[in-house]
Amino acid sequence: MVNECAVPKKIIKGGKEVMVCDETRSRLLPVLQDIQDKKGYISDKNMQEVADMFGIHPVEVFSVITFYSFLSEKKKGKHIIRVSNCVSNVMAGSEKIVKEFEKVLMIEIGQTTKDGEFTLERTSCIGMCNEAPAIMVDDKLIGKVTPQRVKKIIQEQKQ
Ligand code: FES
Repeated sequence: MVNECAVPKKIIKGGKEVMVCDETRSRLLPVLQDIQDKKGYISDKNMQEVADMFGIHPVEVFSVITFYSFLSEKKKGKHIIRVSNCVSNVMAGSEKIVKEFEKVLMIEIGQTTKDGEFTLERTSCIGMCNEAPAIMVDDKLIGKVTPQRVKKIIQEQKQ
């Protein structure tokens, strides 16, 4: 059972150290994902509520949120553009793509446009090394992106 557990933890039982499955964290993710989907971010108040629900410290909730790039403690844009920065993507020119998005959207990486339409981020693996440089716009994967395609990709999201 513990071998199948995603998050095993040691506890002292009967004076002995034993491994048990810590289900708290595996149950935590769907709850956080649900809040993220409904609100677009997870507020400090939400973190406290979730921590209370699971009987853990809010810092643990915060660490989960900051570990997973698809969870956020900040309100983001209507569309999230994620540029992969894995080695293959960097070698294929992903930084040129980042620079072009920054120029066209008039923001820096990690920021959201003033109209709240777009947030620009770097992300690790999106499973698209073979089509680098690749990006994700919301849940859509786009490969072989060139700086010349950036404006069109942005315009397509506005339609
Ligand atoms: S390692 Fe490059 S996209 Fe996954």
